[in-house]
Amino acid sequence: MLILGIESSCDETAAAVVEDGRRIVSNVIATSVEEQALYGGVVPEIASRRHIESVSAVAQKALADAGVRAEDLDAVAATFAPGLIGAVLVGLNFAKGLSLSSGKPLVGVHHLRGHIAALYLTHPELKPPFLCLVVSGGHSHIVQVDDYTRFRVLGRTVDDAAGEAFDKVARTLGLGYPGGPAISKAAKEGNPHAYSLPVPHVEGPYNVSFSGLKTAVLNAVNQAQMKGEELNAADMAASFEWRIDEILANKLLAAAKDTGAKILCLAGGVAANGLLRRLVEQGAAKLGIRVYLPDPALCGDNAAMIASQGYYEFTAGHVADLSLNGMATLPIDYI
Ligand code: KG4
Ligand code: ZN
Repeated sequence: MLILGIESSCDETAAAVVEDGRRIVSNVIATSVEEQALYGGVVPEIASRRHIESVSAVAQKALADAGVRAEDLDAVAATFAPGLIGAVLVGLNFAKGLSLSSGKPLVGVHHLRGHIAALYLTHPELKPPFLCLVVSGGHSHIVQVDDYTRFRVLGRTVDDAAGEAFDKVARTLGLGYPGGPAISKAAKEGNPHAYSLPVPHVEGPYNVSFSGLKTAVLNAVNQAQMKGEELNAADMAASFEWRIDEILANKLLAAAKDTGAKILCLAGGVAANGLLRRLVEQGAAKLGIRVYLPDPALCGDNAAMIASQGYYEFTAGHVADLSLNGMATLPIDYI
């Protein structure tokens, strides 16, 4: 079964063809990240405008690279929530037009479900149930994946998402956007124990909070400035990366222990973080739990993951009609 996926929820305009939810036939991504970096973060209107300029060409290239025509598809899947609403609507409306003109069914895909599906593209043998930490620019969830289309949220951030925290701290340290890769790069030259950053207190056993961590970095930068001292950005990047990854890994491992999980996974843009991957692998090895990590190239936003999840939604009978609307927010267990 061939599914075309369309993704446009943030600054990537992406289209991909995936076979049976598992095999990438083509995968095309255009991004406005360089333009967004000029502003230190994603400007929603710029993202929407770039999507509208490139979505047709990106989708056509995905079909051409796959050597198929719209008639050969079994369905058209698109991210319909959550995301920057103006951005989501561009890809979703394009998918609606294609569905209407080709007569192929339309499937709406939840973006975070898509991030989890990147694991199916990386590991053909992986099947639910498993426990997954989904960490992106907009979300940080510990999710019990009961089945391909059944999810339970065990914990979440009560303030900033993990990726957002990386982006904000990188901006404070003058390291540029996107913050995650910039912090990791700077951290390689730094000492993770140079600064002792707090573990913010939070209610709920598997919830996380990052705003106190972000404020602690900001305070250290301001204090150094007031004293006329130079803060060592590499040491701070390393200390921050260490602390946030330790918090995330410890929460995930605690949830795994308590729920008796046999398989642990990471998903989302922050799942590309090397230290987080190592901490989870090491902790899980001690508990005798198997770990599956997504291919780093599939951690960030892409349409192959949307086509993969689209296959599972489609085979579960979750077909949309042309009245499907986009949503800026929607829980992962909406259905
Ligand atoms: O999943 P994603 O591509 O987009 C959203 O759905 O939000 O995640 C983007 C986020 C950004 O905040 C970016 O800084 C972060 O993922 N990120 C990383 C790394 N690569 C990307 N964070 C930590 N370490 C990385 N290597
Ligand atoms: Zn994403």
